[in-house]
Amino acid sequence: MNRAHIRLLLIAVLTLLAGCTHLREDDALYRGLGGEPGIQLIVDDLIDVIVTDPRTRRSFEGIKVKHLKHSIAMFICNVAGGQCDYEGEDMKKTHVDAQISEAEFDALVDMLRVVLDRHTGTAEKNELLRRLAPMKRDIVAGY
Ligand code: HEM
Repeated sequence: MNRAHIRLLLIAVLTLLAGCTHLREDDALYRGLGGEPGIQLIVDDLIDVIVTDPRTRRSFEGIKVKHLKHSIAMFICNVAGGQCDYEGEDMKKTHVDAQISEAEFDALVDMLRVVLDRHTGTAEKNELLRRLAPMKRDIVAGY
């Protein structure tokens, strides 16, 4: 191996290391929420609350809760930086039929805040809420 080869090898190794560091930073929230099982617990808890709470329950009548829990967990997993298989629609298509109001959206976020306090730390809670907040414009009808 000559000098040029060694230099190339060094560059390749450094690039790989930089990539790994990036990966670690990117999935920090995913790991902070307890990975896939942790996120599933959070979502299960949230869905149980929102399908019964009078402020949000009307949209969930006739919806298959088991499938919804799985689908939303996969979605949140990806939002948090995990690598999950979300097979659902985008946020606009998913919510358009339900004509969700701003009050309903805000009520869901309040309930999510309470659920996250039960499962995770303040930093993880705030970071997840920060990432979900911009989706309001796709989820709330006419927002
Ligand atoms: C940041 C807030 C929200 C996020 C990230 C979110 C995310 C999702 C996701 C990922 C799905 C599954 C889509 C699929 O499988 O194709 C879903 C479905 C649904 N969401 Fe939301 N959602 C949010 C807020 C809301 C609010 C505020 C309501 C109503 C109060 C709501 C009502 C529904 C309903 C009824 C479904 C089932 C739609 C169907 O199967 O026809 N969502 N949501």
